[in-house]
Amino acid sequence: MKIAFFSAQPYDITFFNKENKSFGFELEYFDTGLEEQTVNLITEGTDTVCVFVNDKVDAEVIKKLAKKNVKYIALRCAGFNNVDLEEAHKHNIKVCRVPAYSPEAVAEHTLALLFTLNRKIHKAYNRVREQNYSLNGLLGTNIYKKTVGIIGTGNIGAVFCRMMKALGTEVLAYDIYENEELKNEGIKYVSLEDIYAKSDIISLHCPLTPDTLHLINETTIAKMKDGVFLINTSRGKLIESHAAIQALRAKKIGALAIDVYEQEEKVFFRDLSETILEDERLQLLTSFPNVIVTAHQAFFTDEALSQISYITLDNLKQLSTKGAIEGRVAEL
Ligand code: NAI
Repeated sequence: MKIAFFSAQPYDITFFNKENKSFGFELEYFDTGLEEQTVNLITEGTDTVCVFVNDKVDAEVIKKLAKKNVKYIALRCAGFNNVDLEEAHKHNIKVCRVPAYSPEAVAEHTLALLFTLNRKIHKAYNRVREQNYSLNGLLGTNIYKKTVGIIGTGNIGAVFCRMMKALGTEVLAYDIYENEELKNEGIKYVSLEDIYAKSDIISLHCPLTPDTLHLINETTIAKMKDGVFLINTSRGKLIESHAAIQALRAKKIGALAIDVYEQEEKVFFRDLSETILEDERLQLLTSFPNVIVTAHQAFFTDEALSQISYITLDNLKQLSTKGAIEGRVAEL
């Protein structure tokens, strides 16, 4: 099998080459993203394209992939909102993904963002480096006994629920499917309205779907507690960023941490330190003292990358030999 990797970063090459020793596939890496203009990079005999979160696998791209006889689209991530599954189905192209590689990695990063925001570690780090040992402006609150609202209790949300419970918080959850095990552990499922009204901290762990697009907007923010902490390590478009900026200015949102951003595909995973950022919203957000932005790194641990590489290659092995893989096909 010949696999063309798009958006390949040096770490992808390291981890995939290592795991591929036990698969023996032919791997070709392109650092550019997949989009209509880059499909032509695919060379003769390629069966598979391997893509990441910001590759644009829309209907036009899929038509071109089909013309090149590509049979598989392998997502090396969990979310698949960037792939037109209907179009892939029409062309008999199978789409596989890595549904759960290391939910702990993402949940731990979410926790890191929360603690950093709350105790202002990002400010303290810079202060002491400049011999400023003053505590003014660094006041936090106890997380203990706060109410945490978690939207989406799948693999990642469930781990985060347990982490928050272990910290002595009251955990409220909302999901379209309730997890009985979590309920038995003292997690309370409530309506979205209750999550908004009662939570001191809200963390998003649901996928991006037509239902969740701009879930957090002017109307829903208005229902939240004043000074709410909002964290998003799921997908950028869950939050309408203009509304978040307005709410930060009005001090309705007390602090915001995002690992994902609405327009991230133009910015994230690149070194733009020598350029002038054109995205004014992102520029504004990164200038706020109570906002932390990380560039889609929640998944980025050694363990997660090993699992992503192994599962992606194993998906392709199984699809090409058995024609199916349980639970790892992206479906409509
Ligand atoms: P999952 O599929 O295990 O869980 C998603 C949960 O969201 C499910 O329980 C589902 O029922 C629920 N859900 C679906 N629609 C909903 C709605 N309208 N309202 C409330 N809940 C809804 O997915 P997993 O592995 O927990 O990942 C969650 C999201 O995290 C992914 O979709 C992905 O976008 C994001 N992610 C981000 C990473 C990062 O590095 N920042 C890495 C991995 C995933």
